[in-house]
Amino acid sequence: MKITTLIALATLFASSSVAAIGSPPGNPALGKQRFEATPPGGQSCASCHLKSGAGAIDDSTPLLAGQPADFLAMTLRQYRSGERVNVLMNAQVGPDGTNPLTDADIDNISAYLASQRSILHVYQPERRR
Ligand code: HEC
Repeated sequence: MKITTLIALATLFASSSVAAIGSPPGNPALGKQRFEATPPGGQSCASCHLKSGAGAIDDSTPLLAGQPADFLAMTLRQYRSGERVNVLMNAQVGPDGTNPLTDADIDNISAYLASQRSILHVYQPERRR
């Protein structure tokens, strides 16, 4: 094999692995549908976290928009298994939950929420003047 062919193959391999590491596994469009869907006998994720996860019905409900996909996926798996305990979220996605999530649902929802604009910001007192 010629050296130029080897270099071309090495470049191709390197660029494709970087792309795979950088992008979350889920499908944001499917995640949006799932996040807004109302399951039979249950309530949608968006009914508490509001559309696109950029709001909340009360102060105990966190903002989800723009949070890292890997964190969202990890914590949803923890609510589902019961490792992370919260009465409301365990009742949604836990073993007997009213809105059970598959692994694909979790990846899709996490990719969708991570792609949304965050309204979280760092407090900068000097900006208030
Ligand atoms: C009844 C209201 C309600 C519904 C419906 C609901 N959530 Fe939540 N969610 C909450 C509350 C309250 C918390 C904070 C729980 C805690 O303190 O651990 C939370 C926490 C979370 C978190 C953790 C965020 C963080 O910053 O730690 C994620 C992710 C999440 N919800 C996603 C979802 C998804 C996806 C659905 C739909 C399957 C959903 N939620 C449905 C109320 C709700």
